[in-house]
Amino acid sequence: MAQTMMKKIASSACVVIGITRRTSSRSLVTGSKALTAKKEQELPAEREVTKSVFMSQSTDIYTNLALEDWMYRNMDFSKHHVMMVWRNEPCVVIGRHQNPWLESNVPLLTEKDIALARRNSGGGTVYHDRGNLNVTFFTPRERYDRKYNLELIKRALFRGFGVKAVINERQDIIVRDKYKVSGTAAKLGRLSAYHHCTLLVDANKTDLSKALAKRETNATASTPSPVANLTEVNNRVTVDALQTALGYEYMRTPAVTLQDGGQDMISKQRGFQFVNPSEDWFPGLSEIRNELQSWDWCYGRTPVFTVSRSFPVPEELLAPSKLYSATQELSINMKVEKGLISDVTLNIAPGLIESGFHGEASVITHLIGKRFTSEALAALQDAMLTRRDSGERKLDDREQFVAKCFDQVVNTV
Ligand SMILES: *[C@@H]1O[C@H](CO)[C@@H](O)[C@H](O)[C@H]1NC(C)=O
Ligand SMILES: *[C@@H]1O[C@H](CO)[C@@H](O)[C@H](O)[C@H]1NC(C)=O
Ligand SMILES: *[C@@H]1O[C@H](CO)[C@@H](O)[C@H](O)[C@H]1NC(C)=O
Ligand SMILES: *[C@@H]1O[C@H](CO)[C@@H](O)[C@H](O)[C@H]1NC(C)=O
Repeated sequence: MAQTMMKKIASSACVVIGITRRTSSRSLVTGSKALTAKKEQELPAEREVTKSVFMSQSTDIYTNLALEDWMYRNMDFSKHHVMMVWRNEPCVVIGRHQNPWLESNVPLLTEKDIALARRNSGGGTVYHDRGNLNVTFFTPRERYDRKYNLELIKRALFRGFGVKAVINERQDIIVRDKYKVSGTAAKLGRLSAYHHCTLLVDANKTDLSKALAKRETNATASTPSPVANLTEVNNRVTVDALQTALGYEYMRTPAVTLQDGGQDMISKQRGFQFVNPSEDWFPGLSEIRNELQSWDWCYGRTPVFTVSRSFPVPEELLAPSKLYSATQELSINMKVEKGLISDVTLNIAPGLIESGFHGEASVITHLIGKRFTSEALAALQDAMLTRRDSGERKLDDREQFVAKCFDQVVNTV
């Protein structure tokens, strides 16, 4: 069904590859001045506003985030509202001020090649894969209306699939009393605003919960809600079918009032448009993309946090022939600033020291300034090796134990 609907769109509505841009990169500065002047004018009447549904042809999270950002910065939405839909290859997207190590299982993401991205808007962490539809509503700042958007999605679910959803006080879309099928966040600027949400259609819930597994630290992480796939409610819901249903619902609804304008309204809009997010169509896009993909942005923007862990020292590593009354533990505290280790405290069990472990400060200081990743471990092992006078290139059992503890601190959730 989705297939035939898409064909129908392709033959009747306007389909373009890429979009016509209003401003070239050279005129961006003057472009925004013109927009400022415009802001002082009245907003156009609702009937003067037309709508488009953009369908991004990219499934790369950084490209899509960059496109979103580009549109937000460069397009004029006063007479033209846009709803953009897209999907991504598996990735985890955190909010602008969040901590990736806290909100997701970073080592697993690295291992499974799941991208991590930090977006420009606030809000919580979401998992995406191809079974997940992302929707962004662009409007002028004054016409930002989260409730309108969510209501529209709710209507599309009902009109298209008979799925009854409710919008709760946290502005999540809920099905079957408690299951969340959406995540929502927004960015409000001086002139333009956007509101984006994710809709879980048939996302891999196993991967989702693994990817979002939380680490225990002192920083407060957000509380997760139970989630559901829309296919569980109605198996006719597919990402394609939902995209189409949403697109039509968007176009049959006037720009500001939640009314059903029916077929008449649809015919007044600009229709579905395929968007190819490339540098040719969106000058400056790759620069935005590169920045969004950089380590400094994704990880380096993390607020300061500390991690502490204690490990019982195996008996065979303790000095023999001694009886220790207290538990013999190695405890590690790390402070991480801008994604880099800024302070380390190591409390070494007396039995470990007496058995010959030299946890000199010089070794530990090699960790300072290293990224809170396996890079730090490599540095630690290196430092332990070069410290030895014997020239032997192998860690002894005690050093291996310490290295393993550090590994757990960095790489285990
Ligand atoms: C899709 O929506 C979610 C939830 O608001 C957001 O975290 C994510 O960044 C959006 N994806 C893109 C590519 O903008
Ligand atoms: C979506 O959720 C349903 C119900 O939990 C599950 O049967 C289905 O396998 C999930 N889809 C994926 C791709 O994990
Ligand atoms: C979810 O992904 C895992 C691999 O990451 C795979 O083994 C499993 O079959 C997937 N589940 C569904 C329902 O597709
Ligand atoms: C949290 O902080 C307290 C005091 O600052 C410290 O004693 C405790 O070990 C920390 N816990 C974790 C899990 O970092």
